[in-house]
Amino acid sequence: MKKVLLVSSEAVPYVKTGGLADVVGSLPKYFNKDEYDVRVIIPKYACMDSSFLPKLRFLCHFYVNLNWRRQYVGIFETEYHGVHFYLVDNEFYFAGDAPYHNIYEDVEKFAYFSKAVLASLPYIDFAPDILHCNDWQTGLVPVYLRTMFGDDNFYAGIKTVFTIHNLQYQGRWRIREVMDITGLPEQIFNAKELESYGEANYLKGGVVYADYVTTVSPTYAHEITTVEGGEGLSGLMCAKRNKLRGILNGIDYEEYNPQTDPYIPVNYIRKDALVGKKRNKTALQKELGLPVKDDVFMLGIVSRMTSQKGFDLISYALEELLPELKIQMVVIGSGEGQYENMFRSFQSRYPEKLNVYIGYSEERSHKVYAACDALLMPSMFEPCGLSQMISMRYGTIPIVRETGGLKDTVEPYNEFENTGCGFSFANFNAQEMMEIIRYAYEVYEERKDDWHGLVNRAMDRNFSWNASAREYEKLYDKLTEL
Ligand code: ADP
Ligand code: GLC
Repeated sequence: MKKVLLVSSEAVPYVKTGGLADVVGSLPKYFNKDEYDVRVIIPKYACMDSSFLPKLRFLCHFYVNLNWRRQYVGIFETEYHGVHFYLVDNEFYFAGDAPYHNIYEDVEKFAYFSKAVLASLPYIDFAPDILHCNDWQTGLVPVYLRTMFGDDNFYAGIKTVFTIHNLQYQGRWRIREVMDITGLPEQIFNAKELESYGEANYLKGGVVYADYVTTVSPTYAHEITTVEGGEGLSGLMCAKRNKLRGILNGIDYEEYNPQTDPYIPVNYIRKDALVGKKRNKTALQKELGLPVKDDVFMLGIVSRMTSQKGFDLISYALEELLPELKIQMVVIGSGEGQYENMFRSFQSRYPEKLNVYIGYSEERSHKVYAACDALLMPSMFEPCGLSQMISMRYGTIPIVRETGGLKDTVEPYNEFENTGCGFSFANFNAQEMMEIIRYAYEVYEERKDDWHGLVNRAMDRNFSWNASAREYEKLYDKLTEL
């Protein structure tokens, strides 16, 4: 039995700010349970859903040294849908109403978390063969493992995988302060290890020290080796090329299933998707106070509101498209104020055409996936993207930019061969995006059978974790054989 511990700063159902939580919470369910015991360790944030608290069992506590600081570590454990979770408790570090605050606090918080995870292993009675770390918040796990735990036999054989979900966030801060916080030896803060552009860089540490690096789609694995996509680290990614690959994310097929989804008013399957989606559309129109018309083209957005997701293009395009097309847009998301305000302003100018919900709501997002005809996701870059896969599962046609995982998952519509399950455009350009939205609108309005074909093909696609979980199994096998 191979033992794997997934280390992450978020995981569903406990805490989620984006796709990372979906991935870490759902992937472990899909391993072959006879051969792989895959568990998860995350922080126990004060902001996590309190309904889970009664189910947590206290396991142990101890103290960990972070340079001159000595900090409390409590470990809780629980199971959810057959997956074993450990939660690291420290009320000082994991306080507040969100998992992440500012970079200054977060570099200390996640240095603490990384060291606490390693120190917890002898206490939790789970000696992993593999520590599978995710994003910059866990970048110091492989670094601490090799520099400060390496001499201890218990740790000697542990291999590490570091998965990049988003290279834009690297966890960079002043070297002097990071040295003081982490207690890591001065000599590793050099250009080949932790230093990058004059600062300490947690993600770089993870990439340099891990035995293997993955990212979440094959196209993004290539893009990060280029100057345009490398976020300043393309040289490092090129150097790591033979220990770097893209494994496409999947989605949780139980959670996102239009046939059984408890959040949506009308459940449906592929066979009755057109009727089912129309009924969900009218229900959502009533709920949101939009004019009730089941044949209006409804375009959805479910997204963090950051520049990564292409909101600058959207802001430009809506000035033109909202007056021009007979559409309704339903938006749910939160993030940068400028984008939130942009949607508020469009809503006040076109209340019959655009509805925005600023905030996070699992229930509402499911209703949007089920009700809309198309989902807009014109990302500037996209390591994988889950929203487009979820939308296809609900027969909602994605309109995307051809980048990263969007390129790997959305096969563009070909009207001559009747193939494809979405619409895509190549350049980060508002005119190009508007053309493709107009094209999708025209197919929806004027060629109902062709649109129906798109819906069927989208729902036929398989985005479950099965294939990718096998890829991770092979990677774990390869590393443990080394
Ligand atoms: P990212 O991780 O970059 O934000 P992904 O497409 O990988 O993008 O994952 C986003 C996940 O977060 C999806 O499960 C999506 O449904 C969900 N999501 C995004 N914004 C919201 C929101 N405001 N409310 C509910 N779910 C949201
Ligand atoms: C990141 C990326 C997104 C990806 C998710 C899960 O948040 O932005 O593209 O799907 O991680 O891997």
